[in-house]
Amino acid sequence: MNVPFHRVECDGNELSYLKEVLESGWLTTSRFAKRLEDGFVEATGAKHAIAVNSCTSALHLAVEAAGVRPGDRVLVPTLTFTSTAEVVRYVGGEVVLCDVDPGTGLLTPAILEETLSRNPGIRLVMPVHFAGLAADIAGLTEVADRHGVRIVEDAAHAFPARYPSTGDVVGSADSVACCFSFYANKTITTGEGGMLVTNDDDVAARARLMRLHGIDRDVWKRFQDPGPSWRYDVVEAGFKYNLPDLNAAVGVAQLERAESLREARQRLADRYFAGLGNVAGLDLPPRADGRDAHAWHLFTVHVRPDASVDRDTLSERLAAMGVATSVHYRPLHRMSFWKAQSDSRPESFPGAERRWEGTLSLPLFPGMTDAEQDHVCTSIAAVIGSDAPLIEIPPPAELPAGTVD
Ligand SMILES: Cc1ncc(COP(=O)(O)O)c(C=O)c1O
Repeated sequence: MNVPFHRVECDGNELSYLKEVLESGWLTTSRFAKRLEDGFVEATGAKHAIAVNSCTSALHLAVEAAGVRPGDRVLVPTLTFTSTAEVVRYVGGEVVLCDVDPGTGLLTPAILEETLSRNPGIRLVMPVHFAGLAADIAGLTEVADRHGVRIVEDAAHAFPARYPSTGDVVGSADSVACCFSFYANKTITTGEGGMLVTNDDDVAARARLMRLHGIDRDVWKRFQDPGPSWRYDVVEAGFKYNLPDLNAAVGVAQLERAESLREARQRLADRYFAGLGNVAGLDLPPRADGRDAHAWHLFTVHVRPDASVDRDTLSERLAAMGVATSVHYRPLHRMSFWKAQSDSRPESFPGAERRWEGTLSLPLFPGMTDAEQDHVCTSIAAVIGSDAPLIEIPPPAELPAGTVD
């Protein structure tokens, strides 16, 4: 049996909404993008939602709207996808990498306090709600406020999810902005896409302006308002980040099912806890406070140093058994580009180093069958539980495609 790392199932209204777009005579940003934005305002409780063509675009718009300018220093957790940091470079800022908690992979208020005390002059911090588990935004905000630092949340993994302690929906906090991803393997997808949400009117106005070339008529209003669409002014050198309706139509259908998709992930996560709880040398990921709090974008296990095999061997043996896995992430301080930009000494990132050495992400997607998941669990037990695999390893077949992020 081959179990892919991810497989999208578009078994809601995706096809009928797409048909509507195709038959409408207008394929780019219009009614469905607006519907998706309205849906996010409702789902997160944030005042504004701005649909864009990726989470990277949303993060860029957020950092720009936060006023980060050339030379400004921005704190980014080292355990993240490169997008979180690269957008700081887009605006000429300097990336300062910081450590994370080894158990959760999250930036904690204590780590933030310690890092800000050592690094004066940080302007912005970008916590990542890693794997779908939200960071302690109340605690982070308290520390950041005391140091005069603003927050942009990277919630690429975390829709829908809830903050610990308050139980509020991720996206509702008073940070500069919170950015979601609709990339192909995310909890809801548009193929490529993203959403910026904010409670700040000025940030929303700036992000809307910069989303479409710095044109003073919003992408949506330009084609809805009376008067010719050519009657606009260009007031900034903006970007081309709008989300086409072709993608938004899929997003609206996915959003309708977001809670049931999350429940399916939760059920599979529970099955992993049951199926892998007794595997020696394997630590399972932290759970959230409430049952509906974790988005379960990723299920990351940790292969302890005392396990019978190391992470790389486990991953290779699982691949030979038809089970695709991934690693989230090789920390940025280990990546060539970021090494040259920031402090990259492993001893500066003990939490991320500990986590990276043993972490492995297992397949987890709503359409995964129990048989597929059982195959993952028995394969892991077979590899880790003894030196020789207990179940027959089929000859290397064509493996399912992996993903980069
Ligand atoms: C933590 C994190 N931030 C940002 C991104 C960028 O998302 P997108 O591909 O929508 O630009 C990703 C994508 O995987 C991610 O994992």
